[in-house]
Amino acid sequence: MGTMDDDERCVTECTRCPALVDARTQIVNGTGPEDADLLFVGEGPGANEDEQGEPFVGRSGTVLDDGLRNVGLAREDVRITNCVRCRPPENRDPSTDELENCRGYLEHEIDLLDPDVIVTLGKVPSEHLLDRSVAVTKEAGSLEEVRIEGTPRRVLLCVHPAATLYDRSQEETFANALERAADLADVDGSEGGQSRLDGF
Ligand code: URA
Repeated sequence: MGTMDDDERCVTECTRCPALVDARTQIVNGTGPEDADLLFVGEGPGANEDEQGEPFVGRSGTVLDDGLRNVGLAREDVRITNCVRCRPPENRDPSTDELENCRGYLEHEIDLLDPDVIVTLGKVPSEHLLDRSVAVTKEAGSLEEVRIEGTPRRVLLCVHPAATLYDRSQEETFANALERAADLADVDGSEGGQSRLDGF
């Protein structure tokens, strides 16, 4: 395992994946409240994220932010992280070994956050967390229970925000999944809740 910061949410040092260590500028940790009800999990940092040190800050991030806003949520209300925390070279998919090397950090983040719902953004995080092959376009919007580190977790499948940039027909699929995520967070909206409850 690499080195974590004091509150154990952020990896500060890790050299487990040689190709990613070579390609990265920095390790990109999760962002957002430590008690968020919703956790969004992407694939891995791209060029913008690698440069800025934060997940989903490029074009995909704009699509995600807009999608969240459309369902009454702000980026600041949710936690956002990735399956791997270092940018794969040429934006290739992370390998099975790389996913496995980073798995403990993701599990630890999920454990500390204890979210109501985990939303997987795209095929890679969906298959990684469900441990089966996923036809994400077809299955987006469906909710599954899966044991992560022995704890049952609710996982809501969603297409990757970038999919909407390549294929306009996926905009509705993406929007519907986010609507469901917002509804699920509201239904269970315990202490604090989400901003869409503010003022009600
Ligand atoms: N795509 C991802 O899967 N994660 C990011 O952080 C950015 C783009």
